Amino acid sequence: AGEQLRYDGQTVVVTGAGGGLGRAYALFFASRGANVVVNDLGGSFKGEGGGNKAADTVVNEITSAGGKAVANYDSVENGDKIIETAIKAFGRIDVLINNAGILRDISFKNMKDQDWDLIMKVHVEGAYKCARAAWPHFRKQKYGRVINTASAAGLFGSFGQCNYSAAKLSQVGFTETLAKEGLKYNIICNVIAPIAASRMTATVMPPEVLDALKPEWVVPLVAVLVHKSNDSETGSIFEVGGGHVAKLRWERSKGALLRADDSFTPGALLKKWDDVGNFAADASYPTGPANFLELLEDAQKLPPNPPAEKVEFQGKVALI
Ligand code: NAI
Repeated sequence: AGEQLRYDGQTVVVTGAGGGLGRAYALFFASRGANVVVNDLGGSFKGEGGGNKAADTVVNEITSAGGKAVANYDSVENGDKIIETAIKAFGRIDVLINNAGILRDISFKNMKDQDWDLIMKVHVEGAYKCARAAWPHFRKQKYGRVINTASAAGLFGSFGQCNYSAAKLSQVGFTETLAKEGLKYNIICNVIAPIAASRMTATVMPPEVLDALKPEWVVPLVAVLVHKSNDSETGSIFEVGGGHVAKLRWERSKGALLRADDSFTPGALLKKWDDVGNFAADASYPTGPANFLELLEDAQKLPPNPPAEKVEFQGKVALI
């Protein structure tokens, strides 16, 4: 038998670890030798109420199995207190798993500021506050591992979840930048879009589907990404659930190039509209913005764009 991936002597902070995916992470890391901070506010999946029970139950599960864990009941909005719990109890923090989350599903038409604000507070501000408090420790010790949690809703949109979608896609940009800033200090940051049975998904998926989507099956990816042996897979986006693990990336069409002068009219663009969305020829997988200076130089070498005339756009004749 091979050796296990271990986390002995390391401290792992898991937010929202009182249930669902967070609980699965906490139990796993404790079983592999880590000191675990089990953070959970203990409220409903809509972000109402609170209590110690959720976090305490998971801490008891860990300690009665011989593992090391402490509870923290603060909201992730007070991330500094959560990191402080790690430092006080274990003297360090090595891994931060930003996992806490809630839902406030409602159509955009009916959305209230409160539905929007609460989602932003927990997902966006929460992940920020925890990472911000952990960062100085990571830099000082030249070691840190971060997982942020996005969602398919953020990547693709989801009816009735525009607040949640906006908050979840924010985690992609957040992670990509942290990965760039952290690399020099061996701080590795990745973002996952998980799918798993939890109280969050219990209301929207049938039981037979939920049975096939155990939270435990998201754990191996997270385990690999935050292990000390991973010092290069960073700033990546993963989709994970039900035994499937995949990576997502951006794709850029070659695009249209138009001479940038007075002849660059909406009509001139419409003439080249097919090129804008053509991924079949010379598409690329960029990790940074297009080289606009170079493209502009190429564009200036083109002849003036053809004069305005009638062109078809989406089956209709568009006037220039
Ligand atoms: P869950 O509801 O079982 O777990 C979330 C935990 O976060 C709960 O225990 C809750 O008490 C805690 N929490 C909520 N607000 C908090 C706050 N302000 N401070 C501290 N703790 C707080 O849900 P699940 O499914 O385990 O979700 C975990 C993460 O994965 C969330 O970020 C969720 O948005 C994300 N996710 C889950 C998917 C799924 O299929 N289960 C799909 C896509 C994303």
